[in-house]
Amino acid sequence: MRKNFGKKTIITPLPVVILGTYDENGIPNAMNAAWAGQIDAHQIIVSLSKHKTTDNLERCPEFTVSFATRATVTASDYFGIESGRKVNKIEKAGFHAHKGDYVNAPVFDEYPLTLECKVVELKPDTDGYLLIGETVNMTVDESILTDGKVDLGKMEPILFDSAMNKYRVAGEIVADAFKEGMKLR
Ligand SMILES: Cc1cc2nc3c(=O)[nH]c(=O)nc-3n(C[C@H](O)[C@H](O)[C@H](O)COP(=O)(O)O)c2cc1C
Repeated sequence: MRKNFGKKTIITPLPVVILGTYDENGIPNAMNAAWAGQIDAHQIIVSLSKHKTTDNLERCPEFTVSFATRATVTASDYFGIESGRKVNKIEKAGFHAHKGDYVNAPVFDEYPLTLECKVVELKPDTDGYLLIGETVNMTVDESILTDGKVDLGKMEPILFDSAMNKYRVAGEIVADAFKEGMKLR
């Protein structure tokens, strides 16, 4: 038996990306975005409402994209329920920010994997914006590398479960991509 849910749309897994920007006074800000994805080898796309983050992007078209982890879940959710318009979220969370080597945007020490990005397009739409960014550098904490590769098992990125409004942890390997299907070829 299957059940129909009409137009309800669940895309899974949704990442939990953290967009890092500076405001006009150089104060770092972070916001949580789950409506995000990769559209080619070096570009990311995010669906955004109007936020402090989009104000910052309109002024300075550079940002960072970090990935929330099990270790950072409390701060990462906080970055999605509070606005940088009201409070310095980075100070409140006790996070540490420094300017990226390649962009004028903050890299947070607490997130082990961060993309440094430039805005390709911040396109207004009915509800807000569609942000397309191009990665110019990826910076990774060595603690999550295995044989020089990013190891999601060590990183423990969290996913947004839009069906239940929960965060889940990713990391377990179940098969080799491009190989497992060979068993049926
Ligand atoms: C799990 C989660 C996912 C979210 N995803 C998005 C998103 O994809 N796009 C968006 O515009 N806002 C999203 N938000 C809401 C923003 O993070 C929130 O409005 C935040 O306060 C904006 O911060 P800012 O005003 O400091 O930029 C999400 C919030 C949570 C908790």
